[in-house]
Order: sequence, then structure tokens, then C-alpha cells
Amino acid sequence: MNTTTSIPVEQDTLVNDFLPLHGTDYIELYVGNAKQAAHYYKTAFGFQSLAYSGPETGVKDRVSYVLVQNKMRLMLTSPLHSDSPIAEHHKKHGDGVKVLALMVDDAYDAYEQTVKRGGKSYMEPQTLTDANGEIRVSGIHTYGEVVHLFVERKNYKGVFMPGFEPWKSAYNPTPVGLEYVDHCVGNVGWNQMNPWVKFYEEVMGFKNILSFDDKDISTEYSALMSKVMSNGNGYVKFPINEPAEGKKKSQVEEYLEFYEGEGTQHIAIATKDIVSTVRELMARGVEFLKVPASYYDDLIERVGAIEEDLEPLKELGILVDRDDEGYLLQLFTKPVEDRPTMFYEIIQRKGAKSFGKGNFKALFEAIEREQAVRGNL
Ligand code: FE2
Repeated sequence: MNTTTSIPVEQDTLVNDFLPLHGTDYIELYVGNAKQAAHYYKTAFGFQSLAYSGPETGVKDRVSYVLVQNKMRLMLTSPLHSDSPIAEHHKKHGDGVKVLALMVDDAYDAYEQTVKRGGKSYMEPQTLTDANGEIRVSGIHTYGEVVHLFVERKNYKGVFMPGFEPWKSAYNPTPVGLEYVDHCVGNVGWNQMNPWVKFYEEVMGFKNILSFDDKDISTEYSALMSKVMSNGNGYVKFPINEPAEGKKKSQVEEYLEFYEGEGTQHIAIATKDIVSTVRELMARGVEFLKVPASYYDDLIERVGAIEEDLEPLKELGILVDRDDEGYLLQLFTKPVEDRPTMFYEIIQRKGAKSFGKGNFKALFEAIEREQAVRGNL
């Protein structure tokens, strides 16, 4: 007898969710110079100093700075010696995402559930303790060299986790209104999208909520395909991209070439007021992709009435798209490191649960103009 037939789909997903997630706990980037990167994320993106770990806290092989803005935590880590896996990672990939850490109720169970379904172990469950309590953590591998850590912090009262001390700084630029991680996109190799979709379905219990083929995401020159994976409550969303054949090189191919492998393409961060957030980011030197002014000529005909004034959107180059449930406003930065690899998206959702399909063409043409300037189109 199937006892779930009368339960609505959404509830059914939660009832049977073997990996309940409460959102993104933190994102860790391996970078060439964590001290300077931390200054950039404070100055340009408005993150606040939260925690530090390094030789002063008893950690000999690395330094890590943890920054926070509302619900988003960002960790920046650099190696202190050349013979370190972090140094190897940086030598190969440049700056990039190493850890997408997820909030769980039970890190031991999250590990057991995912590993028994085929997840490849990265970190066996362990309990870290200090005077502020305990953090339990475990982890599995995902695409490329990226890993998911499962972090259980319900019995911890410190600022971040054992091994870290509070980072007190006299330099505290104001926040810019970044709220939380909306989604993180992975770029994988040719024909690798479906295997990774299967991984998120089978190992982590995610569902494929949206798919885009190369006809949805193509310009005159290049193409990509994408499937959006979401956990049961929708707090964690991982779109997976792979390149598709076009007349010229796909932006995903350019990423794979310069990152020297699969990795995280962009992190989308939610704001409650995209006009003020983007205005502030621009004033602080963050560079964004620009769509042509003609994008706004027929915007209202395309997306219908919106609450925002059109002028500031046009002035800042903010994009708008609508789906059945509402609309969204979004904008993409240029890559934030030397290699043309990872970038950020700033997004404000007004009911819409989608990802801006109506903007793909305008956006990818903007990306291609940048690719062409780099000589990689
Ligand atoms: Fe996105």
C-alpha cells in the first residue's frame, strides 16, 4: 500500500526527505591571498568581520577569514606553505569555491544517508568542541574539487566554530543589503550535466525543478544547457550547466578551460532592495555586465507592470524577468578574480521562483562581448 498518495507533493517531499537542509551554512573560497581578499569583500561587498583562524589560533598550515552579511557567511582561505593541498588547488584553479557547506540537524546522519546512496566521502563525521559548545561536521565530494560539508551547529554558541576566534577589526564598512545565498551554479564538462543531476537526485534527494536546453540558452555564437536541482524545502538550489555546441566557444567552455576543470560558476545572493544594493556595490567598485540600453525599450511589454521605477533599473542595468508566480530583478558581476571564472549574481525575487530565462539571451550576448575582448570567443 502506498501511504503517501493522499499527501500533497510538497509535503510528501518533506516527509520523505532523508537529508533535511536549513540552507547554506557558509561558502569557502580558496584564494591566493586571504588577507587581501577579505579586505575586498569587506570594502566592495559590505561583508563584516566575523572569525579568524591561523597560526595564532593553533592552525599551522592555513589562514581563514570568515565574513558575514545578514545570513550569508563567506570563508576565505589561503595556504601558508607550498606543500599543501590548498596550494595545489590554488595553483590549478586560481581563486574559487572549495566548500558549499549546508546546515543540517544531524551531521552524522547526513553523512550516513548520502554515503550509503553513493556519495564519495570527503570528511568522516567528527565533533569539534571548545568552551562554546560543539559543532558536528561531515562532508562528501561533488563536481570537480568542490565539496559539500554538512554542518550541525545547534549546540554551539560561539561566533563560528571551534578553531576560530572572533575577528575584531577597526575597519568596518557598512553592509550593502546582501541577505542570503539564493543559489549556487556549477559548471560541469561535456555530457556531465545529467550524471550530476542524477547525483543530486540519488545521493542528496534533490529534485530537478527546471531545465533549459541549448535552444533556451543560445545566442548567435554559443550555447549551454542547464538543469536546476533543489532540495525539498527549496532553501538550497544548485543549477548545473554544461556547454553545448555553437558556432563559437561556449562561456561554460571558457570557464572549464581557465578553471582547469569543473567548478562553481556563480553564487547568487538575495537582496530586499536591488536598486540600493547595486548602486552601493557600483559605488564601491564592483563591476557588472552591461546589457544594451535597448533592453529597456520594450521591457514593460515583455514582463508586465512592475513596482519599481524604470529609470533606476535602466541607469544601473538591472534585468527583470517574470514567471507564473511573479517577477524577479537580477544583475551579474564580471568575474571577481584574475581568471574569467567565478562571478556573483545579485537577485531580488518578487514572487518568481525561476532564474531569469527571459534574460539569458541579452545576458549571454553581454558575456560574449567580454569573452571576445579576452580573445576567448
Ligand atoms: Fe543564477
